Amino acid sequence: RLLIIDFGSQVTQLIARRLRELNVYCEIHPYQNVTDAFLAEFAPKAVIFSGGPDSVTREGSPRPPKSVYDLGVPILGICYGQQVMTHDLGGRIEAGESHTAEFGRAYVEPTAVKSDFLNGWFNEGREQVWMSHGDHVAEIAPGFEVYGTSPGAPFAITADLSRRFYAVQFHPEVHHTPNGAALYKNFIELAGFTGDWTMGAYREEMIQKIRAQVGDKQVICGLSGGVDSSVTAILLHEAIGDQLTCVFVDHGLLRMNEAEEVVAMFRDNYNIKLIHAAESDLFIGALEGVSDPEVKRKTIGKLFIDVFQKHADTIEGAEFLAQGTLYPDVIESVSFSGGPSVTIKSHHNVGGLPEKMGLKLVEPLRELFKDEVRALGRELGLPASFIGRHPFPGPGLAIRCPGEITREKLEILRKADAVYIDQIRKHGLYDEIWQAFVAILPVRTVGVMGDGRTYDYACALRAVTSVDGMTADYYPFTHEFLGETATRIINEVKGINRCTYDITSKPPGTIEWE
Ligand code: XMP
Repeated sequence: RLLIIDFGSQVTQLIARRLRELNVYCEIHPYQNVTDAFLAEFAPKAVIFSGGPDSVTREGSPRPPKSVYDLGVPILGICYGQQVMTHDLGGRIEAGESHTAEFGRAYVEPTAVKSDFLNGWFNEGREQVWMSHGDHVAEIAPGFEVYGTSPGAPFAITADLSRRFYAVQFHPEVHHTPNGAALYKNFIELAGFTGDWTMGAYREEMIQKIRAQVGDKQVICGLSGGVDSSVTAILLHEAIGDQLTCVFVDHGLLRMNEAEEVVAMFRDNYNIKLIHAAESDLFIGALEGVSDPEVKRKTIGKLFIDVFQKHADTIEGAEFLAQGTLYPDVIESVSFSGGPSVTIKSHHNVGGLPEKMGLKLVEPLRELFKDEVRALGRELGLPASFIGRHPFPGPGLAIRCPGEITREKLEILRKADAVYIDQIRKHGLYDEIWQAFVAILPVRTVGVMGDGRTYDYACALRAVTSVDGMTADYYPFTHEFLGETATRIINEVKGINRCTYDITSKPPGTIEWE
């Protein structure tokens, strides 16, 4: 196995991800935990030093234990990792000044020397890389040579081939270094990995880890029916069986048949202990007269926690709360850039709940990205149709019903949404779309059906493509598709007599209407 020593870079997990893509098992450990004893026990086959925000020229800045250089295994240093390695082995680092700092795209050129570490590199001359450094190497360490250089980083790639120590100033793990994966591939080949690790192996490791963490204690898991919480629940169930109880808070703001499907799947198919907290009266009652989007979100968020807690309190001896936190959630919450950013929408989650309830967290997906969670879900036998489902927001249909929420509007919305999604599936478009839904508008408009006048709600169809939900484009349906869908919705859903298609991208719009 490979050890990544984390010096605090925001993209350390991307290194792990690149390695998993190469079917190599790795673990990330913060530098503070990596002691001589740790290294001896871990016995890594190779080590990677991550980047980090500190400066090696600062007294007391992070370092690996010196014994790492005596393990006789290959080491790859990235950015801060390169500087640490250079410094520790006798080179010199200069603190950053504005004219030597480099952030963003740069181009690295080869030098006269060659190495297997650079197989597949420089085929077309220079390589585009992503730099993000203040300090830089001023003098390389004895035994090292320079294999790549850029205007801002004359020592962009350095290596001591005899000891198999490699170091780069840029970040090969990010997308802005398009050929970066090749360097990881070369590194792991030089380290003798065969690339036989799989998602199946991850599943087994996580099961062992969960058992070790939880022991014979009880665990509660909030199940929403989304992919992340579902995969978490199934993984935990495999690990600890009946020590797991899931709580499914049904706020009455779900899509057509959704609650029944979630209960059937987890209780009947998987035999997971499940509390179905059917509380639509409570939620819809509290939302009466509320039309401000933030008040809606906060009301739902607070009630959600109350209901969850009420049911969790009935589970005797519960010591752990399982959550489907993914790696992008972790980065967002620890981001160094921090800074006061504006709240666009208060996202609904159970943050703060574990402390309040005195529960410890189990987060088996903490290291994974969304597509990896889907792969794990497939590994666990979740149906493909379930894994590929579009995201659905925690506050549910409440934020697709601008203005005041009523049971009548929710019922109309559910029906219209079901027809729309059926249309999308029938035309084979579901998997091309990131998210599609109907919003019911708070206006009635006049229409004519048969010989009569109608005065019913208008609705808006939304469908977007996106990679991460942060930005989005509207989906370019054909006019035939839109026309046919509008006709079906108006014919099949009583209460709607007008359909519009939302062609706003994000930004400036958001995906949801509230
Ligand atoms: P917006 O509307 O902000 O949404 O463009 C981006 C993505 O996030 C989803 N979304 C939420 N997900 N809790 C969630 O779990 C929420 O409160 C929430 N609000 C929006 C939205 O569906 C889209 O995929």
